Amino acid sequence: MKPIIFDVDTGIDDALAMSYALHSPELELLGFTTCFGNVPVDEATRNTLAVLEKVGKHVPVYEGAAQMFIRGEKKVWAKHVHGEDGLGNSLQHHPTTKAESQSAPDFMIEQVKKRPQEITIIAVGPLTNVALAIQKAPEIIPLIKEVIIMGGAVTVPGNVNAFAEANMIADPEAADYVFSSGLNITLVGLDITLQTLLPKSKLAEWRATGKETAQFFADITDFYINYYESYYPGIGGCALHDPLAVGVAIDASLVSAESMNVKVTLEGEEVGRTVGYPEDEPKIRVCTKVDAARFLEHFLSRVVG
Ligand code: BDR
Ligand code: CA
Repeated sequence: MKPIIFDVDTGIDDALAMSYALHSPELELLGFTTCFGNVPVDEATRNTLAVLEKVGKHVPVYEGAAQMFIRGEKKVWAKHVHGEDGLGNSLQHHPTTKAESQSAPDFMIEQVKKRPQEITIIAVGPLTNVALAIQKAPEIIPLIKEVIIMGGAVTVPGNVNAFAEANMIADPEAADYVFSSGLNITLVGLDITLQTLLPKSKLAEWRATGKETAQFFADITDFYINYYESYYPGIGGCALHDPLAVGVAIDASLVSAESMNVKVTLEGEEVGRTVGYPEDEPKIRVCTKVDAARFLEHFLSRVVG
């Protein structure tokens, strides 16, 4: 089993990614860490705990950054994409479980030091917690086995605007700091996640199982697909951004990548843009191709349990 710290800003595709990971025996989930992003951090923590309760699994949750790494500002949330509650306005109960008292960056530092060269971090929100952890304890950089990041759009346009992907523009300085740190990084960006679409027809299949969890995931994903259909007319489904990062953690052969240095534009109208420089160091693996059919089949075989 691969030991994982899973960093989330729990909106809808984060919730799907969590459930996929929780039903994957290849992964040992050490903890979920939360960050502001789709929603404020306290709501991301609440949603993470609520999804764990829905799925019926216990994994400790550690709350992290409430604001950007350098700017200290809060960004504009993505409630138009994920709903007022971050879960498609379908969160009907408040979780009874609570987050741990240790902070997300401190949990990352502690775990990596305990298990050097073993832990993979999957990060599917703004990169603030990872940036804070390696800033506080730079000695952990060579001790982290891999960081699999959902974020960026190196070879395709952004999704917030023509340049920037949401997790990058949410905290560009954190992303740039992480990319230039020398960490062993695999970048799962819009370059491939926009090729992994969940068709709306699958929601009826989930509902037909009669399981309460499947009903919940169908409800939240319905909201997400409606947003996708308004933003990308004719798309016929929603992109499985965050779940694809989990898919890559389980089976790296789902994707192929090109090695390049990636810098994040920090100012001006292109702020949050990820630009690849094949000739420069340090190199990270930017995924550019995905076996979308094989990934979708695997995801669907597990996501609702
Ligand atoms: C990313 O942005 C967030 O809204 C999603 O959860 C995903 O992590 C896609 O650009
Ligand atoms: Ca996310």
